[in-house]
Amino acid sequence: MGVIRIAAAGDVHASEATRERVVAAFQRIEEEADVILLAGDLTTTGEPEQAAVLADACRDLDIPVFTVLGNHDYHAGRQDDIRALLAEAGVQVLERNWRTCTIAGLELGVVGAKGFVGGFPGSVLPDFGEPLLRQVYAETTAEAEAIGKGLQEIVHCDLRVVLLHYSPIEATIAGEPEGIHVMLGSDRLATPIAEYGADLVLHGHAHAGTFGGCIGKIPVYNVAVHVTGRDFWIFDLEGAKGRSETRVEGPA
Ligand SMILES: [Fe+2]
Ligand SMILES: [Fe+2]
Repeated sequence: MGVIRIAAAGDVHASEATRERVVAAFQRIEEEADVILLAGDLTTTGEPEQAAVLADACRDLDIPVFTVLGNHDYHAGRQDDIRALLAEAGVQVLERNWRTCTIAGLELGVVGAKGFVGGFPGSVLPDFGEPLLRQVYAETTAEAEAIGKGLQEIVHCDLRVVLLHYSPIEATIAGEPEGIHVMLGSDRLATPIAEYGADLVLHGHAHAGTFGGCIGKIPVYNVAVHVTGRDFWIFDLEGAKGRSETRVEGPA
């Protein structure tokens, strides 16, 4: 039985104003975790200078860092520059794809996708009408399909994590006004996770949401720092070669 310690945070919203705190938090967590997973909204308004703060915080770390981007990281139309800055610092930016790493003799697979909007049963965006709205629907479809494809492709991994920005379930956005739930995620993102399985699902985006939820027996956590109330939440993910039995623990 091996244990992988995952440090997770969403919605860091870094900027020059928070540089000191962000850099210190990443330095500290390197001692406590095996891998860092970031659930998007790395920047305040999507400026490369803000992403540079995060890149600088990650550059000299000895543990792997995986991230997805969030809607804020797209706001200035500089997402290509943000991706490049993060990659140069060794951060693995996942966009509808997956990566693996080996920790404690276990292969960890991470499927990363931003996810997108669409809502939850009772209030969902339909695939109907104006092309622009149908395009939004199709974007969420593409995210969901990439999650399913990724989970199938890392089926050999001992532990499989899905890293998102938008929520796949309504339980972890509870606390946000119901009128904006449609903008906070989509249950269509949960469908491939339920179908292909995962050991842990992480997302952010809903700053006023709720920490824990599930898709069947699969644990889902909203790790937005506003929700966790700390720089990182640590999950001890247990797994054994050839066994699917896993356990998720927290906090640190
Ligand atoms: Fe955010
Ligand atoms: Fe967001």
